[in-house]
Amino acid sequence: MSEEPEYIWFDGKVVPASEAKISVKAHALHYGTAVFEGIRAYYHNNELLVFRLKDHIRRLLESARMLHLEPTFTEEEIQDGIIALLKKNGFRTSVYIRPILFVGAGGINLDYRKHPKHIAAFAFPFSAYFERSGLRVCVSSWRRISPMSVIPRAKSAANYLNSCVATIEAKLSGYDEALLLDEGGRVSEGAGENVFIVRRGVISTPPVYSSILEGITRDTVITLAKDSALSIEERPIDRSELYTAEEVFFTGTASEVEPILQIDGRKIRDGEPGRVTGQLKAAYSQAVRGESRKHADWVTTVYAKAR
Ligand SMILES: Cc1ncc(COP(=O)(O)O)c(C=O)c1O
Repeated sequence: MSEEPEYIWFDGKVVPASEAKISVKAHALHYGTAVFEGIRAYYHNNELLVFRLKDHIRRLLESARMLHLEPTFTEEEIQDGIIALLKKNGFRTSVYIRPILFVGAGGINLDYRKHPKHIAAFAFPFSAYFERSGLRVCVSSWRRISPMSVIPRAKSAANYLNSCVATIEAKLSGYDEALLLDEGGRVSEGAGENVFIVRRGVISTPPVYSSILEGITRDTVITLAKDSALSIEERPIDRSELYTAEEVFFTGTASEVEPILQIDGRKIRDGEPGRVTGQLKAAYSQAVRGESRKHADWVTTVYAKAR
């Protein structure tokens, strides 16, 4: 199957991709007035399973609420729309799903509350996010967006320029990904991932007030760690702890659970993926494939098994 999906869900209907068009006057194009989600569906044993669909749609609507973007569809309608989209495309492969709620054409005024709102979702075949497994990362010269200026917790299009400049800077310097500090100089998160460290046997991740996006994979990994009676905490993390950790890893829908092997040219321990990271990666992989009995409700089946 090509990268281009045949069908797109657009303002409540599944339409051929060629019909899902927007105006160059769309407010979102000019000011980044859009909120979106990144969701994965895994093709496993002839079933397509969407991971934590409800939680992603809830976060989409929370992002919308924080930014005065009154949605035109309910949580259930968006979920049904995404399922209809996946069925119509007939994917028989794992896919990435991108729903987006945005402000349409209504003039150049910055107060967009009365402008038309649109919603769309598209999906495409997707496997690994990074080109390699086991990452070399740098602490970015850019700071993570501050809650004094915008809302880091909202997954809004405008916020992502911060991630874009940090990613490009990291790649230009030969790294795989950027890790950003918050405005107070504490560890915040990756350009598109949350971060965890393991230090003195305890797993830690920055709290929501460290300017992070409240990741759904982050929540999944915290839950899985607690299920396995691993010691885990949310707390501010100092940059120097990155260099002295036993293990460091990223989490995210696209990146899943990904070990970081080097930061700013310093090896993390022996430069090999750690045991705790491996354990959580395996548990995550089971959960997304619907193999965790305890968390069976995390997956939504799109269509019954093909014979
Ligand atoms: C900036 C940022 N932080 C964290 C995450 C991880 O969030 P999630 O696990 O919900 O995909 C993402 C992924 O979209 C992201 O873009």
